[in-house]
Amino acid sequence: MRYYLLIFAFVISTTVHADADNGLSVYRDNCLACHMYDRRGVSGMAPTLLNSPWIIGSDELLAGYLLTGGFGPQVLMARFDYLTNEDLRDLIEYLRLEEGLDTTINTEQIQQIRMRYQGEGLYD
Ligand code: HEC
Repeated sequence: MRYYLLIFAFVISTTVHADADNGLSVYRDNCLACHMYDRRGVSGMAPTLLNSPWIIGSDELLAGYLLTGGFGPQVLMARFDYLTNEDLRDLIEYLRLEEGLDTTINTEQIQQIRMRYQGEGLYD
């Protein structure tokens, strides 16, 4: 019985809680090319993410920023709505953890934010 509880707890903790290690690999696959390995960006091309108001501010706004690629109207960054809610949550967890901040956003909230901006034609 105790075993089942342990397995249950493990499954819950790996599915419900954010995973900053996965967030780091999402970062490496999607963000590193512009914001660089150390997140300092490239002068004149991509801003530094260190101490960025978007990252140290609200995690809902950060999710919106990533889903819309910066809220428009000119989008200089890609729109990251192809990332899953889980990957976005883990990415936000990773970015905020690096700033010494925690994250309370969950995948349901990210889904709501996704729906809010879907089809709004920010690119049009
Ligand atoms: C194609 C290059 C490119 C990629 C890839 C990219 N970004 Fe950006 N990012 C930019 C540019 C350019 C800006 C500035 C946009 C602006 O000011 O309108 C920016 C701005 C930002 C900002 C706001 C920074 C600030 O303080 O103003 C955040 C946060 C951010 N990016 C996070 C990310 C994350 C996380 C990823 C990966 C999912 C990512 N970016 C991928 C180019 C990129």
